[in-house]
Amino acid sequence: MCGIVGYLGPRETVQVLMEGLRRLEYRGYDSAGIAVFHGGKIEVRRAQGKLTILEEAIAGESLEGRLGIGHTRWATHGRPSDDNAHPHKAGSIAVVHNGIIENYLSLKKVLMEKGHVFNSETDTEVIAHLIDHFHREGLPFDEAVRRALGEIKGSYALGVLCEKEPDKLIAARSESPLVVGLGEGELFIASDTPAVLTYTRNFIFLEDGEMAVLSGGKVEVLDLEGKSIPREPKRVMWNPLMAEKGGYKHFMLKEIMEQPRAVTDTIRGRISEDRSEIVFEGLDTDEKMVKEINKIALVACGTSYHAALVGRYLIESLSRIPVEVDIGSEFRYRNPLVDEKTLLVAISQSGETADTLAALREGRKRGARTLAICNVVESSLSRESDYTIFTYAGPEIGVASTKAFSTQLVILYLISLFLGKRSGHIDHPHMEEFIGELVKLPHLLEEVVREHKEIERIARKYVHAKNFLYLGRGINYPIALEGALKLKEISYIHAEGYPAGEMKHGPIALIDREMPVVALATRDDTYEKVMNNIEEVHAREGRIIALASQDDKEIASKVEDVISIPPTISALTPMLLTIPLQLLAYYIADFKGNDVDQPRNLAKSVTVE
Ligand code: AGP
Repeated sequence: MCGIVGYLGPRETVQVLMEGLRRLEYRGYDSAGIAVFHGGKIEVRRAQGKLTILEEAIAGESLEGRLGIGHTRWATHGRPSDDNAHPHKAGSIAVVHNGIIENYLSLKKVLMEKGHVFNSETDTEVIAHLIDHFHREGLPFDEAVRRALGEIKGSYALGVLCEKEPDKLIAARSESPLVVGLGEGELFIASDTPAVLTYTRNFIFLEDGEMAVLSGGKVEVLDLEGKSIPREPKRVMWNPLMAEKGGYKHFMLKEIMEQPRAVTDTIRGRISEDRSEIVFEGLDTDEKMVKEINKIALVACGTSYHAALVGRYLIESLSRIPVEVDIGSEFRYRNPLVDEKTLLVAISQSGETADTLAALREGRKRGARTLAICNVVESSLSRESDYTIFTYAGPEIGVASTKAFSTQLVILYLISLFLGKRSGHIDHPHMEEFIGELVKLPHLLEEVVREHKEIERIARKYVHAKNFLYLGRGINYPIALEGALKLKEISYIHAEGYPAGEMKHGPIALIDREMPVVALATRDDTYEKVMNNIEEVHAREGRIIALASQDDKEIASKVEDVISIPPTISALTPMLLTIPLQLLAYYIADFKGNDVDQPRNLAKSVTVE
């Protein structure tokens, strides 16, 4: 997720761009850049690192101009560096981009054969060369943009300049947000309204497959065939800070709601067109790896550890490769049985968790191949691992991890299919079935997210509880742990996740009306047993919140509250169960007036052991 801003008007363009980028830094902050029309040419200035570094780099310059674009980056393809920073320029074209171009490598190959010279590892630079290619062939600027968009596959929000058109800014979007701001005699584009809310509250929200031509104080919205689309501007009433949170009260709530998109972005480009293969750049060339490994060691901390626990169920059931799971800070103290036949998989949103890094280094020392599942390009973990598979959740600002967790589960599911296919345990028909279920997941997540008002109502009833017990079985047991952690870390209410079958071995002594029990009771092969546990709690007047399958009509008579979950295969049920537990924790914490985004005593990344 990156931040884009553009301006056409009488103000000091560099100032408008830099102010806009400052307001968009929450969308990504590993490099930044601007392109400004100055003296009849497009001047590009870029810098790796936070926006302040770019500010220092251009402080002494007077880049006057009436037209420009800017970008703050959250790296997906190509590490954070000056060369990989946007804007990217090719010939007379300059581009800023937010999104993922799936077919950029094949396009880049064709363009290089035509003599185009590339200076970065990014997918975005391909767009600049493609537009320049069609423009050089004689197409007008907007036509060249349309032709290029017809060639690319993937998601984009674009701002484009052409050196031959000093009064024109073109914007286009597909699956990545982009708005057009209409001021008095001035026009703006931005990934999100906060960037320019101080200048205007009138916006056109571009839809997928639309582009906008800003020129001569006017905006024309067109489809990709060039047909004009009449669009009325909408008035936005948010203040800038609210707008950074997309109108949500906290980043955590925004990030919970973003999970369908984060999952879509994480899946993108990793399933072959015929749904027979999982595609992991770099990993799939190591044919030997799957044949040579005889064990997988998953290491992680906190929420990422819970993802690892789900990962064991997925990998063992789909690939039949033995899996061990360790908490990062425990791994090296048990003299682990790790050698060159072990694949050590370190899972970390930040890629900077000291305990997980220490475990990775211990594994390497013992000869293991190492794979990182990480959300931050160029993080320590990704740099120190043999392979890295990135989650594309975008920056996760809330300290409590939500969308990163869902995307970790998706990657673990994809890895299970990848290993299962290569180890011969998944045939083509089953692969198609498993992938078919996965591609439905974002829509199912949307359905669960839409239940948030009902979950808010339920949460309000339990705000004063002092203790919670979360119960789950099988692949959902780690989700009980995760639900308890979410509640603990933001509401400060004590909560325990437990295997439902273990309740009778002790915790049942705790059951009374004062301790709500959250039971994960979706229909799978453990359902009957979980229902027995619910009966045991019910018989002791325990208050139960059940997460149950939509078609389960009996459970309501046994519990106080039911949160319904749409049907899917059991391997994907954890992704659906997680969202209601995140929302339950969020609303209870918010009702208690806690600082949900920055809970006491916690840090977003624990870089000390
Ligand atoms: C989860 O909500 C917490 N913020 C914490 O447990 C976190 O998951 C843990 O510190 C690991 O962080 P990482 O994924 O960045 O390694």
